[in-house]
Amino acid sequence: MPRLVFDAEQLHLTLDDGQTLAQHVLWLQDHDPARRHANGQRLDSVLDLDWDAAISEAALEEGDVLRVTLSNAREIRYGVDELAALSTGFLDERSSAHKTLWQGSEFSVARVEWADVIAGGEALRKALACVRDSGVVCLRGVPVEPGKVLEVIEQFGYVRETNYGKLFDVRTEVSPSNLAFSNLGLGAHTDNPYRDPAPSIQLLHCLSNEVEGGQTLLVDGFAAAERLRELAPESFALLTRTRVPFRFHDADHADLRSWVPFIETDHKGNIRQVRYNNRSIASLPLPLEAQRAFYRAYHDWARVIGQPEQATRLRLVPGDCLLFDNSRVMHARTAFVAGGNRHLQGAYADLDSLYSTLNLLENAR
Ligand SMILES: [Fe+2]
Repeated sequence: MPRLVFDAEQLHLTLDDGQTLAQHVLWLQDHDPARRHANGQRLDSVLDLDWDAAISEAALEEGDVLRVTLSNAREIRYGVDELAALSTGFLDERSSAHKTLWQGSEFSVARVEWADVIAGGEALRKALACVRDSGVVCLRGVPVEPGKVLEVIEQFGYVRETNYGKLFDVRTEVSPSNLAFSNLGLGAHTDNPYRDPAPSIQLLHCLSNEVEGGQTLLVDGFAAAERLRELAPESFALLTRTRVPFRFHDADHADLRSWVPFIETDHKGNIRQVRYNNRSIASLPLPLEAQRAFYRAYHDWARVIGQPEQATRLRLVPGDCLLFDNSRVMHARTAFVAGGNRHLQGAYADLDSLYSTLNLLENAR
């Protein structure tokens, strides 16, 4: 039997499992289930709260309904389970607190068959849960046809069209005359930090990969940020409070600019988003006295991201489609060392619709 204690301002309800729900009279007014439309939306505004109201009586009816009477004669009823659910709310899906962080040397990207995903049900849920929890999944056996990457997005959300179009081609031909393309390696980065908001999902669908080398490297940026916090706490703190300018300027189509931090945290210090892209960082109008400390922190961040043990490597084969959280996972490519074609098609989408689809699938379980 739940145990109830209250005074004029607050109420404590201890459930049979030992959990205590503790709520203020203002919270109890604001969450009144009777003040919701049938669609679940609130009917009242915060301006409707009665700041003079006190709890004058509270009782459990039939063991599972809490009746609260206020000094203004208002009665509020909560089912005990309903009150417990409202008190817990839902988790912040973007927060590192609810994710599995990984070091590349101990991690391999989960693979899910495309045929199972389009059949619906558990395979799609599993693939999306991988993106939520570890930031990445590799779909296998996506037909090697241009444009298929957009069909992958249709399984969970919406294409984020940009000035590059709905999709973009990453195509390289290494000819015998330029075999030593060692400088074609690209360091670990997040895409498009010059957009605000940056696309939070990236897809890369492999249509051909005949080159030697040309592996894909992935780094868990949340794990890298935690490593930075451990190794260089001052640098970590500085990067969370310093906004950095990024820019993509193309004479004909775009002049995209942003002022965003390398590392974003929530009020508890959990990481919610990271960025790193040395190619698109813009000129830094820093005061002289701030320059050394900023470069120290920026250097520390780059060094942690570049540590070989942070990265997991995989070689994409035709039909593979990588789907990853671009607010978290950094991607890189190793240099090509021998001839052939490499053709990937990329596209962007956003996490909100992916989480929405995943939540619906998990609600239905
Ligand atoms: Fe990229």
